Amino acid sequence: MKALILCAGKGTRLRPLTFTIAKHLIPIANKPVIFYSLEKIKNAGIENVGIVVNPENINDFKNVIGDGSNFGLKIEYIIQEEPKGLAHAVWIARDFLQEDDFLMYLGDNLILDDINQFVEEFKNSKELHASILLSPVKDPSRFGIAVVKNGEIIQVIEKPKEPPSNLAIIGLYLFRKTIFEGIKNIKPSWRGELEITDAIGYLIDKKFKVKGHIIYGWWKDTGKPEDLIEANRKILDDNSFKNEIKGVIDPSSDIQGRIYIGENSEIINSTIRGPVVIADNCVIKDSYIGPYSSLGNNVLVENCEIQNSIVMDNVKLLNLPYPIDSSLIGKHVQIVESQKKPKALRLVIGDMGKVEIVR
Ligand code: G1P
Repeated sequence: MKALILCAGKGTRLRPLTFTIAKHLIPIANKPVIFYSLEKIKNAGIENVGIVVNPENINDFKNVIGDGSNFGLKIEYIIQEEPKGLAHAVWIARDFLQEDDFLMYLGDNLILDDINQFVEEFKNSKELHASILLSPVKDPSRFGIAVVKNGEIIQVIEKPKEPPSNLAIIGLYLFRKTIFEGIKNIKPSWRGELEITDAIGYLIDKKFKVKGHIIYGWWKDTGKPEDLIEANRKILDDNSFKNEIKGVIDPSSDIQGRIYIGENSEIINSTIRGPVVIADNCVIKDSYIGPYSSLGNNVLVENCEIQNSIVMDNVKLLNLPYPIDSSLIGKHVQIVESQKKPKALRLVIGDMGKVEIVR
């Protein structure tokens, strides 16, 4: 079995971050989103992985993931030149997939549940032509929706106005080569895309057996800033990282809860209340780092309070009059107090940046 991870989406709802980083490479608990799927794939015993990327982000993926050997995987990259839909992405990956069964994984999706049982069951049930991971949701019209009867999917609809069920297709699919027959027989949807949901609908119409595998654990499609902050919280809550202090903490600092502090990082006269991860070469001085914060490498925080936030590499936060909460701060950002006159905000913010101030 192979795996195909779809990462060609542009992440427009995460601008300006996605002007310089693919959304699948944004760190959650200091690990790029896609690493979590690669680990699940490896864990499920799959070795050959194709990543569908776009012409602008391919090099970022190659720089971060390379040929996959660090993960014990063999990774190939497939370029989707234009955003023509999920089924189109599978179609252009046909040379890589050949006649093999495959796990298709939407690269911006995070799930906590193990996928091994989902994969094993498909391997052992040759009569199934597809198996789709589903989860009950409150807002079904935002998703592809499945109607399930006795474990089998009898209908799928992409983003229905009047949803016939609350079971959403959450972005993990198992297929055999019959899916190509489905893709060949569908037309672009109203949004101009070849929908994988329609290709699955074709299989159902042709009486191929499609299983619905329902999970009840936490999962997230990390499309918006608040989704990333929630995902960061969930991953930090999950006991996947251990309390580990590699850096130096001075005696006047107070460390509470589960904390990871990386190499050469220094905590001076500060309170750190976990769960918190702080990567390498950071300096935290006279500050408070509150629960659910992830700080990347080379971050300097002096005389500030921050919680429930993701701070990427090389950020500087100095002498801020208000705590920072629920924020997403990109690489090399500086938020600092100024003594200069006039006493005013002086901002250099990239296109589509967002600043909320309090009075
Ligand atoms: C896509 C699929 C949809 C699925 C969703 C999961 O939607 O088309 O069926 O429910 O991913 O995140 P999109 O993110 O392209 O709107």
